[in-house]
Amino acid sequence: MSDDVHYDEKIIAFLEDLWGDGFLSPGGADEVRRVLDGVAVYNKSVIDIGCGSGACAILLAQECGASSIVAIDVESPVCKAANKRVIANGLSDKVSIQLVEPGPLPFADEMFDLVFSKDSIIHIPDKEALALEAYRVLKPGGCFAASDWLISHDNSPSSEMVEYLKAEGLDFAMASPARYEKAMKNAGFVDVELVNRNSWYSQVALKELEWLSGNKKSELYQKHGKELIDHQINVWSKMVPVLNSGEHCPHHIRAKKPE
Ligand SMILES: C[S@@+](CC[C@H](N)C(=O)[O-])C[C@H]1O[C@@H](n2cnc3c(N)ncnc32)[C@H](O)[C@@H]1O
Repeated sequence: MSDDVHYDEKIIAFLEDLWGDGFLSPGGADEVRRVLDGVAVYNKSVIDIGCGSGACAILLAQECGASSIVAIDVESPVCKAANKRVIANGLSDKVSIQLVEPGPLPFADEMFDLVFSKDSIIHIPDKEALALEAYRVLKPGGCFAASDWLISHDNSPSSEMVEYLKAEGLDFAMASPARYEKAMKNAGFVDVELVNRNSWYSQVALKELEWLSGNKKSELYQKHGKELIDHQINVWSKMVPVLNSGEHCPHHIRAKKPE
């Protein structure tokens, strides 16, 4: 497992306060539905890469009717939280939460109909290897549907982006849309589609910054601690400019493995 825990209980509690129960990425259930727009999920076997505290996997089972979901993550606290959520929702027969090592997916070839991921591949530096692994575990005709945080270009990050990434202090490894597309196509995927979500998240992130630093701040200090909230205000203050410039550009990525 990953030695450094980035998503501990405190961060999970804060992110869920911001983004909703079981969500460690923006947009909640509506954004997951948009990622899955036009993708067949009913009666399909799904792998959720970087499941976090589990709400996406639960939505895939409860709302979309997936037949089975293997939800993997590399950090123990999120897996514990996800497991609790799966049990509380009575979904243990359909959703299995697995703590895995970073790297090759520990699954046989052609096991899944759908590879799903929400804002987790940013933590995986080797997009080319990830694309090959996603292709390998998919059945012929299977789909890839993900959201991820991208950088708009392949040059050195701007000084604003460097400042933002430093403030995050996470192991973010952002790739450009061009690199992503090439990695998917080289792995064998067809119908590769990238949808830029920058204008949506630019607006949402500004509201998130207002929420963090507005009149709820003292309540947030009490709930999550002053240090954590001040840190997040700093992160969001540095994220908003790189969203506004378009350099930080979350995308939806969809692709198909040929029959
Ligand atoms: C921003 S959170 C998103 C969680 C969830 N998908 C959601 O939208 O709520 C990113 C997650 O990716 C996980 N992660 C990081 N590196 C990973 C890897 N190599 N394989 C799978 N998951 C990973 C983290 O532990 C974290 O739970």
